[in-house]
Parts: sequence; structure tokens; C-alpha cells
Amino acid sequence: MSAGGTLVVGGGFVGTAVARRLAERGEAVTVTSRRRPGHLPDTRGVRWQALDATDAEACDRLSARLRPRRVVLVHGPSDVTWCEEHPERAVAAHTAAAANLAAAAGDARLLMISTDNVFDGSRPGNTEDTPPSPANAYGRAKLRTEERLLGAAADVVVLRVSLVYGHEPADAGKWLNFFAACAHRLLRGEPVTAPHDQWTTPAHVDDVAEVTAAVLCTEAPVPPVLHLGGPDRVSRAAWASVVAEEVGAPPQLVVPTPRAGTRYASRPENTCLRSSLLGRLPATEAIAVRGVREGARSLAAAFGTEC
Ligand SMILES: NC(=O)c1ccc[n+]([C@@H]2O[C@H](COP(=O)([O-])OP(=O)(O)OC[C@H]3O[C@@H](n4cnc5c(N)ncnc54)[C@H](OP(=O)(O)O)[C@@H]3O)[C@@H](O)[C@H]2O)c1
Repeated sequence: MSAGGTLVVGGGFVGTAVARRLAERGEAVTVTSRRRPGHLPDTRGVRWQALDATDAEACDRLSARLRPRRVVLVHGPSDVTWCEEHPERAVAAHTAAAANLAAAAGDARLLMISTDNVFDGSRPGNTEDTPPSPANAYGRAKLRTEERLLGAAADVVVLRVSLVYGHEPADAGKWLNFFAACAHRLLRGEPVTAPHDQWTTPAHVDDVAEVTAAVLCTEAPVPPVLHLGGPDRVSRAAWASVVAEEVGAPPQLVVPTPRAGTRYASRPENTCLRSSLLGRLPATEAIAVRGVREGARSLAAAFGTEC
């Protein structure tokens, strides 16, 4: 990356999509993670560099070499269940990486991908004005990181994103998003148990990448906290049924269940995001985030050919 490009810290499901979109816009992008991602975008302009972002000296060295103009913090740990079991490690990993990059990146614009889990789930929707109040360890770690970052650097944007979905190949090993896990399992004829009492506003990963790139690259002022959710508020069970219908799997394979006692038990009941700001910013006002039906339809063909 020549001086002035973008550093994407985290090469997972969301980070690679953001890197691809930035490269498509002509940005030179360096994706970093501890291990090389299995599915790095083959887009011209994207390259990978090993980095443990909790290592302050390594962040300093990389930043001094690349001198990025923009930094996207989209690193893990992202597994809500793992964070619940390791709350202190989750806070330490997230906050250390953010503090290191804030210190190392000088006057670069820093954009952190945060989460709807900073809310406790008591309201059907959360705007940028809703006071955060996390109900699980993952949400607490992300909120602490937001606060640390907003207090540490001048040009910071916290983009809180609702449940992100998109394509992942059948051979990925472990699917990182609910949509892909549902689609692959349903197409294999396996039942999918999904809570009917956990509500989100799912956002297509390409739309998340589009908004991230627009917010990151605009020269216009951007509010420090922005929300990004899709237009539809759906329960996990309803979302799984839409996936079944669109990929052509039998809808009766979806088994609605209460979230208590499942791996979703620590998720708040409502983690839906609404924005009172995105539609009014010149950089993002024209971006239409897909609804679940349109999003599922746009992805169905890619799943159907694999299974
Ligand atoms: N997916 C969603 O629905 C969603 C929604 C809202 C917010 N987010 C946020 O977006 C971020 C990424 O989510 P994701 O779904 O893309 O997660 P992911 O697929 O698990 O990717 C996480 C990435 O971070 C890297 N990483 C972890 N620790 C690191 C470290 N110390 N230094 C450098 N890289 C490190 C991982 O690679 P290595 O392990 O090899 O280092 C991996 O490439 C998370 O912070 C999450 O809170 C995600």
C-alpha cells in the first residue's frame, strides 16, 4: 500500500467485504489479521499483511511503514458465545487493538464497526439517540471499545451494524453468518432451529461495505456514531423461513423455538437498529439498504449452485 491508503484491521466476513468495496473505489487496501484469511478478495488493490492488533509495537511499525489515511477496525473476537465465556479477554482484545491503532495511526480517519448488542433489547428499535446499555459480554466489550476510541482520537466514526448476512462457500468449514449457515443446512435437508423471540434488522454485507466505504472516504463531516440496519425487523425464525423460501428448501425444516436454552440465549430480544442520520448525510443518502426478501433473492443463486 502506498502512503495514504486504507488499513483494514480484521480479515473476516465483514472486513474482506469492506476491503473489496474500497478497492473497487480505487483505494489501495491492506487487510491485516493474525492468520491469512481463507477467502481474501482477489480484487486488484487488496493485499494482506500479518498483524496482531493487540501488539502495540507491531501496530506502530506497520503504521509507520504504511502511513494509512484511513483505518477500519473490523477485528474479532466476534463470537458472542465465546465472549460470554471469556468476558475479560473479549474486552482486553477489543480495547487494546483499538487503542493501539488510535495511537499508531496519527490523524488517519478511524472507523470502527460496532454492534447492535450495545443495546439491552428492551426497545423494538434503537437510534443513535438511544442510550446504550449492553446485556452481554460481547456488547460490553464493544461499548468499552467505542468509548475508548471516541476519547482517544479526533477523527473517529463508530458504525453500529445489525446482523450482517451474505454468501459464504459451502466448504468454508464454519459459517460466520446466520444466513449462510441456514442456507447450506436447509439445502442439505437438515433442520434449522431458530428463535422466534430474537429480533434484528439484517443488513446485506455488500450494503454494509458500501456504507462503510462511503462514510470512510467522504471529505464532509460525519457524526461520531451512526447506525446501520436493514429496513426489515425480523425474528431469527422468520428470517430462516425467508432463507428457506428463497433458496428453494422446504420451509418446514425451520423449527421456531424460544431463545432461552439455545446458543442465542445471551442475545438481547431486540437488537434492531434505525438511523436518524444516514439518510441525511450526502455520502450515504442515496444508498438503499436491501430488505430481507430482496437480499435473500440476490444471494439464492450462489447457494443453489453449490449444494
Ligand atoms: N458479522 C456481523 O453480523 C457483525 C455485526 C455487527 C458488528 N460486527 C463486528 O465486525 C467485526 C468483524 O466481524 P466479522 O463477522 O467479520 O468477524 P470474523 O469473520 O470473525 O472476523 C474477525 C477478523 O478479525 C481478525 N482478528 C481477530 N483478532 C485479531 C487481532 N488481535 N489482530 C488482528 N486481527 C484480528 C480475525 O483473524 P485472526 O483470528 O486470524 O487474527 C478475523 O480475520 C467484529 O468486531 C464484530 O463485532 C459484525
